[in-house]
Amino acid sequence: MGKVIAVSTNKGGVLKTSITTNLAGVYALQGKKVLIIDTDNQGNAALSFGKNPDNFNTTIYDVLVDGIPPEYSIQNVYENIDILPANDDMAFFEFDVLTKVEQYPQPFMLMTKRLDKIVSDYDVILIDTPPNLGLTQGNVLCFADEVLIPFQPENYSMRSLVKILNAIDEFRERYNPSLSVLGIVATLVDKRTHLHSQVLQECRAYCMNNQITMFDTIIPRTVRFAASVAYEGLPATLTDKNNPLVTSYFELVKEMDGDGS
Ligand SMILES: Nc1ncnc2c1ncn2[C@@H]1O[C@H](COP(=O)(O)OP(=O)(O)OP(=O)(O)O)[C@@H](O)[C@H]1O
Ligand SMILES: [Mg+2]
Repeated sequence: MGKVIAVSTNKGGVLKTSITTNLAGVYALQGKKVLIIDTDNQGNAALSFGKNPDNFNTTIYDVLVDGIPPEYSIQNVYENIDILPANDDMAFFEFDVLTKVEQYPQPFMLMTKRLDKIVSDYDVILIDTPPNLGLTQGNVLCFADEVLIPFQPENYSMRSLVKILNAIDEFRERYNPSLSVLGIVATLVDKRTHLHSQVLQECRAYCMNNQITMFDTIIPRTVRFAASVAYEGLPATLTDKNNPLVTSYFELVKEMDGDGS
């Protein structure tokens, strides 16, 4: 039965898309059938596989708003990896739904309603999300089983992490009691930077005191890694096995699946 993991936080540029697509790569190489659901109007998940999001006739928007069957919009982008793409249309999602409350009486439940029936077609469903908390993120948190939260250690980033964790708690109580926080993964880390080490330590202490998993695996900052998406049209986990970054994604999956050291 498919496990639905949302990669969520309200921060931009903290590797939500990179994690989503690279984890998809790891799972696919393990022979698992993976679906990536892109919910961000930037359409970066499809771009990571070399596909222009503007060329899709239908996207997640049409599935959520007009109720077209998800199968019409799902594309195969690599062996074992399908994607339900997003593009600029998603920028209108919130406005289009919230201005027609009579048509959409349960606006947070659209994703669950439209996509529940395809969950069993996949081993893992990974959801890439936009960098804010709005109707889209709300739909994702209603539909997901687990949330993976990327955390970039910078000044003030603990403050916004606590906020998102509280928001998820409130959301769970009101809308999706089976939602759990899978864990927090530190991203764009430069271990030589004193600030990074300090904030990571603070974060680990906070997580321990609040019974939240913080993964030992960190995703380091490196320029080479970004280049793999830009030039090869594939996430690094599917291109460059010798890159130490790629190893960290494999390690992260081990920890997520509970067989880490
Ligand atoms: N390990 C890394 N080190 C440095 N840069 C990276 C690394 N991995 C990815 N990047 C680059 O960092 C940028 C942000 O990554 P990404 O798009 O995954 O973040 P995001 O959280 O999805 O952003 P957004 O909030 O805009 O959706 C991208 O340009 C990406 O290529
Ligand atoms: Mg993104």
